[in-house]
Amino acid sequence: MNDRLETRVLGTSPDEITKAGQRLAKGQLVAFPTETVYGLGADATNDTAVARIFAAKGRPSFNPLIAHVPDMKTAERLCDFTDAARRLADAFWPGALTLVLPLKPDSGISKLVTAGGPSLAIRIPAGDVATALLNAAGRPIAAPSANPSGRVSPTTAAHVLAGLNGRIDAVLDAGPCPVGVESTIIGFEDGPTLLRAGGIPAEAIEACLGTSLKTPAIDAPLTAPGQLASHYAPNAPLRLNAQSANDAEFMIGFGDVDGDVSLSANGDLVDAAANLFRLLHEADATGKPIAVAPIPETGLGRAINDRLRRAAAPRH
Ligand code: TXA
Ligand code: MG
Repeated sequence: MNDRLETRVLGTSPDEITKAGQRLAKGQLVAFPTETVYGLGADATNDTAVARIFAAKGRPSFNPLIAHVPDMKTAERLCDFTDAARRLADAFWPGALTLVLPLKPDSGISKLVTAGGPSLAIRIPAGDVATALLNAAGRPIAAPSANPSGRVSPTTAAHVLAGLNGRIDAVLDAGPCPVGVESTIIGFEDGPTLLRAGGIPAEAIEACLGTSLKTPAIDAPLTAPGQLASHYAPNAPLRLNAQSANDAEFMIGFGDVDGDVSLSANGDLVDAAANLFRLLHEADATGKPIAVAPIPETGLGRAINDRLRRAAAPRH
């Protein structure tokens, strides 16, 4: 295939980060680590570069992207902040939180990033490498998770290469992502609303705002997050809330429920989130059907269960 790229693996020396930033500025696709998962970055102001994200991932183009910026000054240049949004930004940025906010008229953001809509999903990711890269690029960076559309999200550079080698220009390898599930997404259109459970527990956001979060109506159009039912899917079928494995299954345990591997043998949800996608990749590589122990629906358990339910959903 002559459109196959040679995907370069870059390290995290200042020189390599600068070069990665220059690649982004030239319209190339560079996968990079954030505290949540590896993102597939492209210049959010360059239509062609953003279009290449959709092509590389095989992603339905109605699904909008998150813009990543290094600081609040840049965020405020792009979006209008309500008081509630500002309070959350103060409390949780840099960090695993995405805010969906009205886009300012002269933002320069490609319409492909917002899927033509009036609002932008934006976040300041944590982590020295992500911050240095965003500063080196000198422009907002659109980045979905760096996996083929619908597949398990990557928490290592090896996961990125397994899905996208030859389809992207480079990947910056900074080891495993500490949080391990994607950011929590909050919208404000109709009061603060949990659009996607993620790395910041909904309880922490509610405590910060002093009100409970709405959840979008099940039949609401798009609302969040291109939440297609089947997502994060391994190749093998996945069975949830399993107390033990059937004969042929590879079992992912949690807490007291043992398995071939465990999300967290001592029942720690933060560890479980950090291990989730790595263990799904590992389980998938065995080629066996996968069983997963029950996970409590609190704190990061909500994000973990959301990803597991999508991974188990019928494929389209
Ligand atoms: O942690 C994360 O959020 C990672 C890292 C790389 O930052 N990114 C990530 O991106 O998970 P992605 O594209 O896989 O998921 C972004 C979600 C999608 O479900 C998308 O539909 C939703 O955000 N989204 C993006 N822009 C939106 C908007 N303007 N309104 C509502 N939802 C939006
Ligand atoms: Mg994703």
